[in-house]
Amino acid sequence: MIPRNKIEEILDAAKVEDVVAEYVNLKRRGANLTGLCPFHLEKTPSFSVSPSKGIYKCFGCGNAGNAVNFIMEIEHLNYIAALKHLANKYNIEWHEQELSKEEQFEEKRKATEKESLQIVNNFAERYFQEILWEDEEGQTVGLSYFEERGFRPETIKTFKLGYAKDTWDALTNKAQSEGYNLDLLKLGGLVKTNDQNNLYDAYRNRIIFPIHSISGKPIAFAGRYLIKDPKSPKYVNSPETPLYHKSNELYGLYYAKQSIAKQNEVYLVEGYTDVISLYQAGIHNVVASSGTSLTEGQIKLIKRFTNNVCVLYDGDAAGIKASLRGTDMLLEAGMNVKIVLFPDGDDPDSFLQKIGAVDFTAYLDANKKDFILFKASLLSEEASNDPIQKAELIKEVVESICKIPDAFKRSIFLHETSLLMGIEEQVVINEANKIIRNNFNKRAPDETTLQEEHENTTIDESWVEQVQDLQRNDVQENDLIRVLLSYGDKEFSDEYVNVANYILHELAADEIEIEHPVAAQIIVAVHEQLSKQDLQLGYFIRHDDPIITAYVADVMSYDLEISPNWEKKFDVIVEPIGTNYKQDVSSSVLRLKIKHIEKLMLQNQKELEAFEKERQHDKVQLNIQVQMLLLKRRAELAKSIETIITK
Ligand code: UTP
Ligand code: MN
Repeated sequence: MIPRNKIEEILDAAKVEDVVAEYVNLKRRGANLTGLCPFHLEKTPSFSVSPSKGIYKCFGCGNAGNAVNFIMEIEHLNYIAALKHLANKYNIEWHEQELSKEEQFEEKRKATEKESLQIVNNFAERYFQEILWEDEEGQTVGLSYFEERGFRPETIKTFKLGYAKDTWDALTNKAQSEGYNLDLLKLGGLVKTNDQNNLYDAYRNRIIFPIHSISGKPIAFAGRYLIKDPKSPKYVNSPETPLYHKSNELYGLYYAKQSIAKQNEVYLVEGYTDVISLYQAGIHNVVASSGTSLTEGQIKLIKRFTNNVCVLYDGDAAGIKASLRGTDMLLEAGMNVKIVLFPDGDDPDSFLQKIGAVDFTAYLDANKKDFILFKASLLSEEASNDPIQKAELIKEVVESICKIPDAFKRSIFLHETSLLMGIEEQVVINEANKIIRNNFNKRAPDETTLQEEHENTTIDESWVEQVQDLQRNDVQENDLIRVLLSYGDKEFSDEYVNVANYILHELAADEIEIEHPVAAQIIVAVHEQLSKQDLQLGYFIRHDDPIITAYVADVMSYDLEISPNWEKKFDVIVEPIGTNYKQDVSSSVLRLKIKHIEKLMLQNQKELEAFEKERQHDKVQLNIQVQMLLLKRRAELAKSIETIITK
């Protein structure tokens, strides 16, 4: 349970327009903002944000909600994890459990240290870029290097690439003159001290790749030499800092995450240059493990956006080994793993530069192989004539298969493997059972697997279903909730305290039951508020049940729809409905009543048909009378709407 005041604090800080703007390029349109929907592919914007209502809505795919719903959807997090994400982002204290006084103090110290490190890194990122674009050495050495490698200016700018000059103190001096704390620069690995305790730049004569956090902040730097030099490392990398834990970051994720979610697949490459090349070629769903095998933390990051990983590694022996190494953990996390190999001597970057974007994409599609089957065929080629070796390699492949948590998928792979390797299926299955039994015994009882961890933070199937349920076709009910929440606390007539009171009274009078489950829940809650004389209509868009906030955002988004024609035609922002709220309320109630009558008529009609079949004539007569009454009532209601609207 998260305390109510914590939720309030987070919602106060996390304004929906700011939260969304991190992911969507928003343009102002009147009181609202619009942009391209991040949840489906589109060319003209149908996505709107209303700062005053605190909601967003896409009229293309229907997704709607408040700031928390947005984070849930875009980061694929469950409710609690999304709140935590926002708390983190807006520097709101968040305690997993009660921390001791000392721990709290330590947390705060770390927080401010992280904040200051971030400031220093922001400075360094700007500085390296400035040198690249404006300094003469930067241009002739750095920029021309990038150009030679085929990186276009807009790509260099997107990834905020930079250049470090061939001197010992250019950055140190600049930082000092601008008053940055040198201890922090040291902590961040940007400057170092020599034996005489003098400071010098850590990155010299190198092109700079800033490494961005998932939210796009520069948290580390990698500097590549421009010319091969056996005396120095190819890359100088930032050390581990309070801001940067290498094993929990993936290079390029900030730029890739939306595309990963949309394509429901991620390409995993080794190097920074591979990411940049693919991105430049229009393949945006790509991240790099930065030359090491994947860690659990990195897999967790990927799992937030997709379950499908395609590994792109060099075609040489080392590349294949590297890809074999990293993948068992992906399988264990329940991911589907594919692999594409490149011709020997090429990595994704060099191959792409060689054959061009179009052929490269075609190559990926044509050469994508399932990882397990790839492994099986690779190994069986190696050991085709040696029975002992063959037994070993069956074991190895089956071990990989046993990492897959889903039993159904496992059995399919066992079947395919037996075919591929020419072994009886039962032999493979026996081997698998042995391994599974062993693994089971080995696992400590309270050890949480990656799969479980994933389930703890990620939205599940039931959430997806619930959201789909929201899009039921209860037009009149939704409209009633709209007027209830918009004007509920306003006066209506002498008879009723307010609009809410009037609406509930009318529902009761006609014995109308609300069918939409969320709408019904809101009606009950408003009823309760009224009886306590404590009407809190604004509470529903800040509710701690995300399905309620998603629903409320949806019904409240009626006037957010972008109609470019209106503005073009009349050159005005069209006035929203509801300027005459009493009329709005009355007609909404009447429309719901009509809908209710129509339901009764339909029901009556069915009864009538049944009685006719059974030849129960007096009952048929009764039904006909009822139908006439209903028709009359319907006509009266329709008439009332007309008089209200033309009033
Ligand atoms: P590569 O040697 O393939 O480098 O190492 P690259 O980035 O693709 O560069 P190009 O294409 O040769 O110019 C792959 C990754 O391994 C890490 C880096 O993350 C690199 O992107 N690496 C490599 C280091 O961290 N340090 C090194 O010295 C070498
Ligand atoms: Mn490379």
